[in-house]
Amino acid sequence: MKKIILLMCLLLFVFACTGSQGKTQSLLTGAVVQEIVPPVQDSVIAQEQTGELKEFYVEAFNWGFKPKTIEVNQGDRVKITAKSDDVDHGLAISAYGINIKLTPGKEETVEFIADKKGTFPFYCSVFCGQGHREMTGTLVVK
Ligand code: CUA
Repeated sequence: MKKIILLMCLLLFVFACTGSQGKTQSLLTGAVVQEIVPPVQDSVIAQEQTGELKEFYVEAFNWGFKPKTIEVNQGDRVKITAKSDDVDHGLAISAYGINIKLTPGKEETVEFIADKKGTFPFYCSVFCGQGHREMTGTLVVK
């Protein structure tokens, strides 16, 4: 009879251990999942930042931009140096929150990561006379 009780105690002990081991494992699994999530986010940021540097020189004049089209790939770091050849102009790309003022002869530089795909208009943001509205261009992010 004592042997049976001893055996039952032993079995209970084994079950208790297995039970706690199961909990430990699930806790470990949870920790592993938590550790995996941040690297995934890091790789997304890394992907955005490892894009090539694409440099452009844009001239603004009455009434247009040269070049009129800027084409880059998604993820590229875009550096635009702009200059007005005559009067005050502006260069705005609303989709990327860019709006710089160009005073004659002074170079202005803006840099951004082309993280959104699409075709985005850019335009002159400083009133410059009768052709002001014709001062438009296109940013293409492929
Ligand atoms: Cu140039 Cu408005």
